[in-house]
Amino acid sequence: MSQLTDEINRRRTFAIISHPDAGKTTLTEKLLLFGGAIHIAGAVKSNKIKKTATSDWMEIEKQRGISVATSVMGFNYGDYKINILDTPGHQDFAEDTYRTLTAVDSVIIVVDVAKGVEQQTRKLMEVCRMRNTPVIIFVNKLDREGRDPFEILDELEQELKINVRPLSWPINIGAKFKGVYNIYEQSLDLFTPNKQKVSERVEIDNIDSRLIDDTIGEDDAAKLREDIELIEGVYPDFDVDDYLAGQVAPVFFGSALNTFGVKELLDCFVKIAPAPRPIEAEERKIMPDEENFSGFVFKIHANMDPNHRSCIAFVKVCSGKFERNAPYKHIRSGKLMKFAAPTAFMAQKKNIVDEAYPGDIVGIPDTGNFKIGDTITSGEEIHFKGLPSFSPEQFKYIENTDPMKSKQLEKGIQQLMDEGVAQLFVNQFNGRKLIGTVGQLQFEVIQYRLLHEYGAQCRWEPISLYKACWIESDDEEALAAFKKRKHQFMAIDRDGRDVFLADSNYVLQMAQTDFPKISFHFTSEY
Ligand code: G4P
Repeated sequence: MSQLTDEINRRRTFAIISHPDAGKTTLTEKLLLFGGAIHIAGAVKSNKIKKTATSDWMEIEKQRGISVATSVMGFNYGDYKINILDTPGHQDFAEDTYRTLTAVDSVIIVVDVAKGVEQQTRKLMEVCRMRNTPVIIFVNKLDREGRDPFEILDELEQELKINVRPLSWPINIGAKFKGVYNIYEQSLDLFTPNKQKVSERVEIDNIDSRLIDDTIGEDDAAKLREDIELIEGVYPDFDVDDYLAGQVAPVFFGSALNTFGVKELLDCFVKIAPAPRPIEAEERKIMPDEENFSGFVFKIHANMDPNHRSCIAFVKVCSGKFERNAPYKHIRSGKLMKFAAPTAFMAQKKNIVDEAYPGDIVGIPDTGNFKIGDTITSGEEIHFKGLPSFSPEQFKYIENTDPMKSKQLEKGIQQLMDEGVAQLFVNQFNGRKLIGTVGQLQFEVIQYRLLHEYGAQCRWEPISLYKACWIESDDEEALAAFKKRKHQFMAIDRDGRDVFLADSNYVLQMAQTDFPKISFHFTSEY
């Protein structure tokens, strides 16, 4: 096998996603601990945004700034090179998370055993489902009182719309929690609450072993056997191919805070999770082991300090070997570029790298050349499929308040949209510019940045809308009729595509019923 194939096969690039507070940060930190990337718990600040700061976006941006270094955490674990892509916990930055999910090969979902599936988890799972991203589920906080594990499994299946298969099973929950039976490896992991130490493991031959009764007591052993029998009866055997196809999600139980069940999760993860996978470009499918380099920008992190107006473009390497100072083609502009100071993200440190392989993320310092979704290659004209934009849910008209600075405003809006801060629509009825976001905070961010980085002033005008959705139809007449009827509510996005601005759910549903020949899309990827 070539060196390139070796490097590809040992890479695991994934994201951990959860509803805030389920334990994503804690789990990330424990994984880093196992990888030797950090040495004590509590060392990771991660992208976690403190609860106290939810309404203070300056504070949030400061924390986001600190977290550039932890946006990607790379470390070696045994023979594997692991890249964890962090996602912001705050739901106003959900768009960032969606885009990050386009750069991973698999996902670990963390669920709180007491709370079950929560709203944000449901939404993020939809994105995974769209791309058949393989997911593993970690049910966390078993040291606390929680719900019955069977009930949790049912809820996972129903709410996340994916088949599940437990690969470990808890012995009691909360105060009586004794550990987990590792179905995948047939061993018993005993729980000793300890935030730093790895749990004790008892190897057993099979579920009938006397050793189980000796360690956890006859009653719990009996209950465990009953549960396992039920699991084996109800759930089909675990099939890795089904997992890789995004059809079934293996489930692990544990307590991230107590570092319990985490190593089991990680050991299984590295074995079954996919190495970098082929990626669809508009022209053809790109295989990771192709000799020529290709990659795309999935995230741009702006420096909020107006004195250093630089950004970092996060490039996911899709194929071939990326090399520092090699000439690469920026497909959108056609320009050849050389990157003298690309950074890799290893164990929270940013270092300049000479090379990177498929699955890796490189950070490229940039001063406004890149746009989210841009493709870079060794020369071939390929375009990775656009990163999805989702129907925004908050809207405001943006108005210039300083006529002398309209150019600056234009430029500022354009660049912020390139960075993916929000989406711009132009209302076809009145020609006004409309900004759509997923969260309220973005409006403050935009106003502040326009002023401080571009010297432009703007004001927001409210508009009450429910959703913007992309429309299309094979039937030209039907499309024209729709646009005529809804002419006050038609807009175009930055790519000139038709967008319908529905002012209520009712109106949207009526439109869908009245115009069956029109397709309504809630993501830009259709
Ligand atoms: P997030 O990134 O998903 O938002 O969650 P995070 O890891 O920050 O965890 C949220 C809270 O849940 C934290 O407590 C964390 O200590 C706690 N937690 C995580 N895993 C476990 C677990 O296995 N068992 C128990 N009992 N608690 C867990 P906090 O008080 O909000 O924050 P902190 O002051 O401890 O950081």
